[in-house]
Amino acid sequence: MSHSPLNWIDEELRELDAVGLRRRLTTRSSSQAARIVVDGQELINFGSNDYLGLAAECLNDVVIDAIRTHGWGSGASALVTGRGSLHAELEAALADFEGTEAALLFPSGFAANVGAITSLASKGDVVFSDAKNHASIIDGCRLSGARIQIYPHGDLDYLRMMLPQASAFRRRLIVTDGLFSMDGDLAPLCDLAALAEQFDAMLMVDEAHATGVFGDRGRGTAEYWGVEEAVHVRVGTLSKAAGSIGGFVAGSRSLIEWIANRARPYVFSTAPPEAIAAAGLAAMKRIQEEPHRRTELLSRADRLRRRLMAIGCDTGESASQIIPIMIGEPEATMRFNASLRESGFFVPGIRPPTVPEGESLLRISLSYAHTDDMIGALVQAIERLLLVRGGEPLMDANEH
Ligand SMILES: Cc1ncc(COP(=O)(O)O)c(C=O)c1O
Repeated sequence: MSHSPLNWIDEELRELDAVGLRRRLTTRSSSQAARIVVDGQELINFGSNDYLGLAAECLNDVVIDAIRTHGWGSGASALVTGRGSLHAELEAALADFEGTEAALLFPSGFAANVGAITSLASKGDVVFSDAKNHASIIDGCRLSGARIQIYPHGDLDYLRMMLPQASAFRRRLIVTDGLFSMDGDLAPLCDLAALAEQFDAMLMVDEAHATGVFGDRGRGTAEYWGVEEAVHVRVGTLSKAAGSIGGFVAGSRSLIEWIANRARPYVFSTAPPEAIAAAGLAAMKRIQEEPHRRTELLSRADRLRRRLMAIGCDTGESASQIIPIMIGEPEATMRFNASLRESGFFVPGIRPPTVPEGESLLRISLSYAHTDDMIGALVQAIERLLLVRGGEPLMDANEH
């Protein structure tokens, strides 16, 4: 093999392969729905975050109409000439939906998290971040230049111990996912809100997986726990329950203006096409007008969790439409994933670095679009695979 300074990459990829951590690109040739075709195989899809079943069809017409009236590309960052009337309309609708003074649209939820955190914290500040927060929060913390204090997942005692020592920092920010993306559990927002108030800290909650799903009006976990007033910075995304793309930050007018001035992923990135704002507007309308989608989704998730537990699956602390089946090691996880795939189900295997070592899992992502038959067939397939394994528990006791 001729020498190239990039030769190390093939070696690294082989090493990833050897420990079951190599990701492979797949190609979906159907639309994103409950039934998909991936690499030529038809599968029942338990891998998308289209929780309310809006992605495949519900938004198509408004997008096509918006392209006809507003064109496609936005051509510049929002602060230059990229922000059009539909973007402004969506930001007003998001603020209205969230019950906040203002909202700001980002190209993605990832960009919204990075933009918000780096605007709020810098050198001389401290950020308290849950160990299971999403990668975009982690990267935002790293880029901010602030001291990062990672607290064990949901560990309020740790925070109670550390926060009193944080008064020496200029500002304090506590940041958490509202609904954790892999384990499907909820952050203890009531306690976090009380701690933030006690120690004069800003509280930021990423509602990526909860927007449209949790809370009476679908605003997310802050609404569900009744602590909206205590959450200073709310991040959401239109890429999951809203079935589209684009992230947003909602909060006070001055917060939003500050972020629009400071967030580099906002200032230095082209605004998304206005048609995306049209999809966002239509999705927010559906979320508000069709609450049965989220109530039905959560009660189906409850039933599915109970059925999985009854056949011996460890679903961890899941309390939502995200239901993990804890496996442990990546190789075993991917074997289970492959067997389910042979049975016609797509259930993604989640491995490090997405989850910590020893905590690989299958992530069932439930959607309003799944029928009872699809859910029943999944449970049967999992049960069959467990029987093939001789009924042994999916996770060794010592893997916990
Ligand atoms: C908790 C959480 N926050 C933010 C994001 C990023 O959102 P988006 O996909 O819109 O960039 C994700 C996406 O996976 C997520 O799980």
